[in-house]
Formats: sequence, C-alpha cells, structure tokens
Amino acid sequence: MSAVARYDSETYGRVARFLHWLVVVLIAAQFVVGWTMPDIHRDTQPVGLIAWHLIIGTALILAMAVRVVWRLTHRPPPGDLPPLLDTVSRATHFLLYAALIVVPLLGWANASSRDWASTLSGALPLPPIAATGSNVAHEMGDVHGVLAWVLLALIVMHVGAALFHRFVRKDKVLERMMG
Ligand code: HEM
Ligand code: HEM
Repeated sequence: MSAVARYDSETYGRVARFLHWLVVVLIAAQFVVGWTMPDIHRDTQPVGLIAWHLIIGTALILAMAVRVVWRLTHRPPPGDLPPLLDTVSRATHFLLYAALIVVPLLGWANASSRDWASTLSGALPLPPIAATGSNVAHEMGDVHGVLAWVLLALIVMHVGAALFHRFVRKDKVLERMMG
C-alpha cells in the first residue's frame, strides 16, 4: 500500500499528464495553423485554416481552464532538484502557464472584436470578450502574434530542459510526465 502511494507521489497524476500532452498536441497544431493561415484583413471571413485556428483555440482555452483548476487543486509531485535548478524550473513553469493563458485570451479578444465566434465548430461557443470593432482588441491581435513567439521560446527552453534531465543529468524528471 505504502509502495503504491510512494510511486504515485513521484509522478504527475494521470489527469495532469493527460492535460499536459493534450495541450502539447493542441499548441503544436495551433502554431502550424497560425503560421500557415492567410493574412487577416478587415473583410476576411473565418473560414478554412482560420476557422481551424478558432476551433483549436477554443479547445485550448477549455483545456487550459480545466488544467489551471486542476493545478490549483493538485500539487505536483515533490522534487529533489538542487535549489538553483528548482527555482529556474518553477519560474519557467509559471511563465509557461502565464503565456498559455494570456496568448489564447488575446486571440479570443481579437476574434471577438471581429465578431468571429470561438466555438468547437458550433459546439460550446465561448462568449465574446470584446466589443465588435474594439480598437484595443484589434491591437491585441498583433500582441497575440508577438507573444506567441515568447511562448515558443519558453517551450524551446522547456523541451531543452526535459532533454537535459533525461540525457545529461540522467534523472527521473522526464518520467514524471511520461507516467
Ligand atoms: C497558445 C495558443 C495560440 C497560438 C500559439 C496562436 C498563434 C497564432 C499565430 C502564430 C498567429 C499569426 C500571427 C501573425 O501572423 O502575426 C495567430 C493569429 C491569430 N490568432 Fe492565434 N494562437 C493561439 C490561440 C488563439 C486563440 C485561442 C484564438 C481565438 C479563440 C486565436 C485567434 C487568432 C486570431 C483572430 C488571429 C489573427 C490576429 C490578427 O492578425 O489580427 N488564437 N495566432
Ligand atoms: C507545447 C509544448 C509544451 C508546453 C506548453 C508544456 C508545458 C508544461 C508546464 C506548464 C509544465 C508544468 C506542469 C505543472 O507543474 O503543473 C510542464 C511540465 C513538464 N513538461 Fe512540458 N510542456 C510542453 C512540452 C513538453 C515536451 C515536448 C516535453 C518532453 C520532451 C515536456 C516535458 C515535461 C516534463 C518532464 C514536465 C515535468 C517537470 C517536472 O517534473 O518538474 N513538456 N510542461
């Protein structure tokens, strides 16, 4: 009994692991679609790849809402990293969460200002969070694009760290998220 409890306490839980990898897949798709979709102008319609960006974006917002609630109610497994690495790791995870919340919110605000519905292809429509034609929300579209690069930089650091743990430090950090 205690052996099982101990093993459980050393890896992220099933739900946390599922949400982590679900968000990874959605983000990867969202970058590809965001970079390949056509340029957006005043009279552009949300069809084709742009519609996909809104569908994946809505899925991301819903997945992140669940993930944040889950994270606030479930502690990650205790780690045994040296203090400096522990601080850098916590700070990067915090910034990743911040970017994973702010970047989608700005996209959602920009979509709202264009009167574009953010839905899972009609299901689970998100309410607009900015007035149609809002200038501020329009500018948020540019900030969204810039902060997407910041998110990408954090992801590169994060994946680099995962590989550093696995192949240089040869510790169990990667296994904590693999299950
Ligand atoms: C972390 C998740 C997201 C990433 C990585 C991402 C990435 C991108 C990228 C790379 C662009 C193109 C920027 C450019 O060419 O300058 C873009 C534009 C856009 N995204 Fe996202 N996006 C995300 C989430 C969302 C969400 C959740 C929505 C709405 C529900 C959304 C709506 C939009 C809109 C409306 C634009 C056009 C902005 C404009 O050109 O004014 N995005 N996104
Ligand atoms: C879109 C890409 C990714 C994002 C946004 C992301 C985000 C995150 C976040 C926010 C955490 C903190 C979890 C928490 O404590 O609640 C985390 C943990 C973790 N991620 Fe990722 N991740 C991404 C890709 C990856 C990849 C590709 C790998 C593996 C190569 C990976 C391996 C890990 C590991 C091992 C942990 C646990 C670290 C620890 O135990 O301290 N992640 N990730």
